[in-house]
Amino acid sequence: MKRLPIFIMAASFVCGVAMADTLKLREDNIPQIVSAMTLEEKAHLVVGADMKKIAAGGEVGDTEKVVPGAAGVTYPIPRLGIPTIVMADGPAGLRIKPIREGDSNTYYCTGFPVGTHLAATWNDEIIYRVGQAMGEEVKEYGVDILLAPGINIMRNPLCGRNFEYYSEDPLLAGKTAAAIINGVESNGVGTSLKHFCANNQEINRLANDSRISQRALREIYLRNFEIAVKDSQPWTIMTSYNYLNGRYTSEDKGLLEDVLRGEFGFEGMIVTDWGGGLDAAAQMAAGNDMIQPGEPRHIDVIINAVKNGTLKEADLDKCVARILELIVKTPRFKGYKFSNKPDLKAHAAVTREVASEGFVLLKNDDKALPMASGATVALFGVGSYDFIAGGRGSGDVNKAYVVDMHEGMISNGIVLDKKLDDYYMAYMERERKRIAPLDEHRRWTHYTLRPNEIRDPRQLVEGSAERADMAVITFSRNSAEGFERHVNRDFNLRIDETALLNEVSRQFRSAGKKVVVVLNVCGPVEVASWRDKVDAILVCWMPGQEGGNSVADVLLGKVSPSGHLPMSFPIRYADVPSQNFPVDVPETGLNQSFENYSTKYKYYDQPNIDYTNYTEDIFIGYRHFATRGVEVAYPFGHGLTYTDFELSGMKVKQGKDGKIAVTCKVTNTGSRAAKQVVQLYSTALYPDHERPLLELRGYSKTPTLQPGQSCNVDIAITTDDLAIFIEEESAWKVVAGDYRLSLGFSSGDLRANSELFIPNTSVRKVTDVLKPTDGKLFIE
Ligand code: BGC
Repeated sequence: MKRLPIFIMAASFVCGVAMADTLKLREDNIPQIVSAMTLEEKAHLVVGADMKKIAAGGEVGDTEKVVPGAAGVTYPIPRLGIPTIVMADGPAGLRIKPIREGDSNTYYCTGFPVGTHLAATWNDEIIYRVGQAMGEEVKEYGVDILLAPGINIMRNPLCGRNFEYYSEDPLLAGKTAAAIINGVESNGVGTSLKHFCANNQEINRLANDSRISQRALREIYLRNFEIAVKDSQPWTIMTSYNYLNGRYTSEDKGLLEDVLRGEFGFEGMIVTDWGGGLDAAAQMAAGNDMIQPGEPRHIDVIINAVKNGTLKEADLDKCVARILELIVKTPRFKGYKFSNKPDLKAHAAVTREVASEGFVLLKNDDKALPMASGATVALFGVGSYDFIAGGRGSGDVNKAYVVDMHEGMISNGIVLDKKLDDYYMAYMERERKRIAPLDEHRRWTHYTLRPNEIRDPRQLVEGSAERADMAVITFSRNSAEGFERHVNRDFNLRIDETALLNEVSRQFRSAGKKVVVVLNVCGPVEVASWRDKVDAILVCWMPGQEGGNSVADVLLGKVSPSGHLPMSFPIRYADVPSQNFPVDVPETGLNQSFENYSTKYKYYDQPNIDYTNYTEDIFIGYRHFATRGVEVAYPFGHGLTYTDFELSGMKVKQGKDGKIAVTCKVTNTGSRAAKQVVQLYSTALYPDHERPLLELRGYSKTPTLQPGQSCNVDIAITTDDLAIFIEEESAWKVVAGDYRLSLGFSSGDLRANSELFIPNTSVRKVTDVLKPTDGKLFIE
């Protein structure tokens, strides 16, 4: 190094101190800040700042720093004016600790309906309002980023985290996500769209390799993210835990830089899932900007990689710059004085409204519902008394209360069969006492035990058919992060539940009285074998803290259900196309994902655990059932209301610019007010590649229509929406030819159609970066 004269050295030293004192992060000086940062500071910033717990083998996603119970914080660098920002889960509301030591205030958050339930509304406007309310809690509790929404595709109905997710269809999932993201971010706080991508099972999720064809990736598993990014540009995206075609998603530059940023146009920051991936330096090089919650060794790995040249400092700088770009947008950076007093009362009203909007009425023979006013109800099933408002794990919300069915019915004036109710109340008290000690040591990611149904249903039901005018039975299903659901005791009704159902049905029906089943579930359950024994089935999902009130609103007919299934309800589990899935893996009492399979190294020994071949390709859900003519119990998009609707006057207008405008008229021909969902599906009539018979291309929910009232419905799509992904050409192709567009109220209830001719083939090439490195798609 060339020696400088002493006076110049002294001058630059003074200047350096002055710079460090005055240079503070602003929106317009990010490049300058990056150049002023030391390598150590950069390595700290890209790694989360609460590593103590994970280093000690503790829970991930639960920090005590800044906002207790949040999932993670970032590293502050005060000398450059870089504050800590706070990230907390999602997606059914904000998850933070409700009680703090030495503080008499409480910090409860609103428990909204779970993701599946929101998607079942098919109503972007109401989902946006839910987002607005959630975002207000994020902002007022001093959090900067909500780690939601989760939009992984429901490839298999048993996936334990499906309750957080939206649909088996990428369009519905993508649009629902965009609505919630836009709602949350309207508060000036961020979201984290997760888990990018192909994280469709819980067992061995830290190391399972999803083996997926390019076509299925493009048309299904990436399409939802593409739609959400283009429609809402979330502040951040969270990569997933799994491998995809042999590479960790968080270490896959092709996936993150070429596809997500390059093709989809994502402009924000990318963060790992908590503890995801293996190689910190590879994550930086891939453009995965931040590692959460991070481990001390990650910092050393990054510093050493820059020093030894395996990680370019310029790549690290890009990650640092994107984190700073995120930080300058946050309320914390802007010095927002949060109140810790969000409007929980107003949000309770939002959750009550959205929950009833998403309920799906599967069947309603002879207008069994709404119930006659003043009718006495015999309320059965432990689920009526121990209602499930949401799922377990990071998607749980610490809510102040849950209105269960029993409470909701009574407080809304529904008269219950008192003798039966008293019997249940005493029984539940005993069951709760039995279960409490068994549940005491369960961690927040674990299932809690459920009460058993009352043992002798014949004796239980005896007499209630004389005392009551109708029966309501609730069956509930729990679900938790890290576990899969089971076929026998979960997808299928259990023996004690079937016994109860049979007895209630026999005694009430022979007395000429109606039987209603409420399904308090997180996804499909088997219904085909027992549905004829009951008059109505209402799916109320996991409806959030006001659930019991929302159910009462619908039973009483104050609101007509207008939700539609965001997934198909198969007749039996064996009909599900994704049979490569870890089914009924024995439980050891441990969290199947965290403790049973904690290694992150790739093994290819156990199919569906170490790796999962997506051999069904694009044919999941209704794409399979409709195309192959497999009968379902209830099709994708199904949902009844308390009235009848007619769809008429379908028109299709093709513009020269590729725009296609589809219009129709919907009329309420029944006797009650309700909303209806119009769904638009496409069919390629003479395809030269195998294509699904039906694909959802658009949808629109009407406003509430009074009896006799009509409204016009417009659904706009483009010819690009009809494209197929051609693997051999690495291109999306709109193939010239004949197409049918169909409108209806479900994929199994199409009321009108119109054919159109697309005159020219158009091709959009994409980057070919997602293929398995070893050239072989499926592991044998
Ligand atoms: C989950 C994420 C969550 C994170 C932080 C992880 O285990 O997969 O969805 O946001 O924890 O709690």
